[in-house]
Amino acid sequence: MAGNIEAAKKSDIDKWPPLEKTPYHVGIIMDGNGRWAKSKRLPRAAGHKQGAENLRQILESSVDFGIKILTIYAFSTENWNRPKAEVRGLMNLFDYYFGRELNELHKNGVQLRHIGQMAGIKPGMQDKIRRAVEETRNNQRLILNVAFNYGGRAEIVNAVRAIIKDGVLPEQVTDDLISQYLYTGGLPDPDLIIRTSGEFRISNFLIWQSAYAEYYITPTYWPNFNKDALYKALKAYSERNRRYGRVDQD
Ligand code: IPE
Ligand code: IPE
Ligand code: MG
Repeated sequence: MAGNIEAAKKSDIDKWPPLEKTPYHVGIIMDGNGRWAKSKRLPRAAGHKQGAENLRQILESSVDFGIKILTIYAFSTENWNRPKAEVRGLMNLFDYYFGRELNELHKNGVQLRHIGQMAGIKPGMQDKIRRAVEETRNNQRLILNVAFNYGGRAEIVNAVRAIIKDGVLPEQVTDDLISQYLYTGGLPDPDLIIRTSGEFRISNFLIWQSAYAEYYITPTYWPNFNKDALYKALKAYSERNRRYGRVDQD
């Protein structure tokens, strides 16, 4: 048995050799559920279900590859504008997965956080989210930020309101202070943002935090985005040269 595990690990290393640098914080815009379903002549809801299922392997793979913070875009403030039936289906799906997966996440040392507005989410679900966050708050293996009812602009508006409410003086307003007031306050900025399904836009995701993030876009639809696809994204990241406006040192 132990031999088998070792053999499995060895083949993993052959398949996904360790990379020179790994992003600490990865954001994923999980896009393309609808087109995945359409390509299979299935209803959009089937795509969302498959997308939710896919998350489990990406979470596990993220831990395997040494990612410490994963921020996933699950539902945007603009997604409320979709047909009522689709929104209802998505809400039911989140509700179901939240309940079903929570124990598993907790067992696996995942610290769950919510980023986004609570207002607008059904009260029962708000409670569930709060409880899940509370229950997993000491877990250290992976921080999973779920961007749910999230919009980058709304986040900044909230931060500005809170800053004013707290009576902060103009000269006290700095980059760091604004970062602290965002939903991600206290966490480092994302190093890599992955978008599936080939769209070249950020759709209001982490607009402040990703000022110097690397972007990686793949045509693969989210339900098909597997461990190999994640490794490819990480490999591309490891080959990037982040200059932050400076000049390379030879
Ligand atoms: C992403 O897939 C899931 C959510 C936005 C909730 P889409 O539903 O946007 O899929 P496409 O873009 O229509 O293919
Ligand atoms: C972004 O995808 C939001 C999520 C993945 C949750 P959308 O499908 O909503 O973005 P647009 O409409 O293509 O910009
Ligand atoms: Mg989409």
